[in-house]
Amino acid sequence: MTATVRTDPRLVKVSLGARSYDIVIGRGVIAALGTRIAELRPGAKTFIVTDDNVARYVLADAEAALSRAGVAANRAIVPAGEASKSYRVFEQVCEAIIAAHMERGDLVVALGGGVIGDLAGFAAAVVRRGLDYVQVPTTLLAQVDSSVGGKTAIDSAHGKNLIGAFHQPILVLADTALLDTLSVREFRAGYAEVAKYGLLGDAAFFAWLESNWRDVFLGGGSSGCFAREQAVAMCCGAKAAIVARDERETGERALLNLGHTFGHALEAACGFSDRLLHGEAIAIGMALAFEFSARRQGLVSKADAARAARHLAEVGLPTRIQDVPGKPPSVDQLMDLIAQDKKVRRGMLTFILVRGIGGAFVEPGVDAREVRTFLSEKLAER
Ligand SMILES: NC(=O)c1ccc[n+]([C@@H]2O[C@H](COP(=O)([O-])OP(=O)(O)OC[C@H]3O[C@@H](n4cnc5c(N)ncnc54)[C@H](O)[C@@H]3O)[C@@H](O)[C@H]2O)c1
Ligand SMILES: [Zn+2]
Repeated sequence: MTATVRTDPRLVKVSLGARSYDIVIGRGVIAALGTRIAELRPGAKTFIVTDDNVARYVLADAEAALSRAGVAANRAIVPAGEASKSYRVFEQVCEAIIAAHMERGDLVVALGGGVIGDLAGFAAAVVRRGLDYVQVPTTLLAQVDSSVGGKTAIDSAHGKNLIGAFHQPILVLADTALLDTLSVREFRAGYAEVAKYGLLGDAAFFAWLESNWRDVFLGGGSSGCFAREQAVAMCCGAKAAIVARDERETGERALLNLGHTFGHALEAACGFSDRLLHGEAIAIGMALAFEFSARRQGLVSKADAARAARHLAEVGLPTRIQDVPGKPPSVDQLMDLIAQDKKVRRGMLTFILVRGIGGAFVEPGVDAREVRTFLSEKLAER
């Protein structure tokens, strides 16, 4: 069996002219971190930014890989969690990078989930007016979404991700074996973003996920098919293609926000706490976006909306507002949060809607009153 199993890393290219880079996906690829960096930037020093959870599981392997290739490494370990995307922690990270004498030409290494990728990427964007950096994503969400595309940010008191920069990495190394230590809940939340790529633009991929999701969760080439690697590669390929066409989100990149308007409102209503993880909120948001689309003539059928929700529920994700533990938010609260998240122009909201599974599009003319009626009905359901 093992003889036929594919173990070569998969490569996905993000084509952005002089700023193009590779995404390398596979079990164990972190072992090549040092050699890949030495090849890309001979003689460069590195500075690893990670969090205290990831440090426990992965830091030793990352440092060993750098050291084997003769690449010097310093590091900063920040507390795990969204609270580290703050001015205070950002300042500490920037000062530590400068104190380690990182010069132009040296490299920051973001070793962690989306929090670390956003924080370290933003530090790299601004220290010495811009250092190059490498993403080593360690959560499923980071491997399929946040590590690719160059959006970096920290949070403001006014909202998430409001202080940031577009800064592309020079390499993404997605070691799928690192996901083995992730909690099932975190893995599942990341899976919502995996399903999102099928739902927004690739019906065949969605059908493949319906048949293969168990192997994606299991990992390890359990059925000899390396479904997890296949899924990460498909998602990265889809995101890379969209980013290559619309790096700064002036159009098509907005499709990646499928489910995010409803989802962000629910996340905010829960205070961005463990009560509802981002991916869980997005799962509910996508189910709502499909249902909302199904109410509009000529868009997705009720059967396809039900099919989308069924798959999300099958993997254990929430799909209804009632699935959020605790007291449900009110319609007024949700509408206020949606209005804060999005600009309302003359009572009209922009939503990502769907014509079918794999058929998302940007609809700028959604009447806020229609959304209110829809949410009232949803909240009244038992
Ligand atoms: N830049 C973008 O394009 C983009 C896109 C989507 C999300 N994001 C951002 O990503 C962040 C969320 O990312 P996330 O879900 O990866 O959260 P995260 O980075 O907080 O990671 C989730 C938890 O898993 C732990 N963890 C990470 N890797 C682990 C491993 N291999 N084993 C065990 N535990 C591990 C972390 O310590 C943390 O406690 C948010 O801040 C969001 O704004 C950015
Ligand atoms: Zn998301």
